[in-house]
Amino acid sequence: MMARMHPVFERLGESRLAAVVMIENEEHAVPLARALLAGGVTAMELTLRTDVALESLKQIGIEVPEMMVGAGTVLREEQVSAARDAGAAFGMAPGTNRRILAAAKDAGFPFAPGIATPTDIELALEFDCRVLKFFPAEGMGGLKYLTSIAIPYRQLGLRYIPLGGVHEGNLASYTTSPDILAVGGSWLAPKPLLDTGDWKGIESLARRAVALIGGTGE
Ligand code: 3PG
Repeated sequence: MMARMHPVFERLGESRLAAVVMIENEEHAVPLARALLAGGVTAMELTLRTDVALESLKQIGIEVPEMMVGAGTVLREEQVSAARDAGAAFGMAPGTNRRILAAAKDAGFPFAPGIATPTDIELALEFDCRVLKFFPAEGMGGLKYLTSIAIPYRQLGLRYIPLGGVHEGNLASYTTSPDILAVGGSWLAPKPLLDTGDWKGIESLARRAVALIGGTGE
């Protein structure tokens, strides 16, 4: 009954942490990816919320190949192929949109749609998604709520990535659950640190997060 997980998501599961980043200045892309990596965070969701997002994604793929970078906030069908062409390892969205899931499936592009209810999970299952973004994790009730909606589907081997409202204070609680593949959020790349080019500051946030989930950082 359990489908094998896409290798990209296996890798995300090994990294256990994903930084959610919004890049407004494309010159920030490479130093940001390097800073996160130096702190031990090896995966990021680069949100397609700015004009420079795709170019930033491309630059990271070229300059920082050790960083696994996926495209987030995929809201339109054409963004599926655009993200793939820019080198995104996977796609994510805040919600579960049939047209986007069909496009991702057709393209063989690993995609984690956002789910918040059992109905969302079942829609994602129609498109063979096995890794789901749980969004907005804290707003919906955190791990307690996720566990209660995950139970009926456990035999299918679904794994979740809680995002939305996660921070240093609640991060570790998520990693105790076998339902969780990885966890993360935007606190790892705060705008004030990006704006001031405080890469050391971002590296320490990454290192602290890695330590909080029981890793060692680098
Ligand atoms: C996302 O796109 O995953 C969210 O914006 C992350 O939520 P956060 O900003 O609360 O971490």
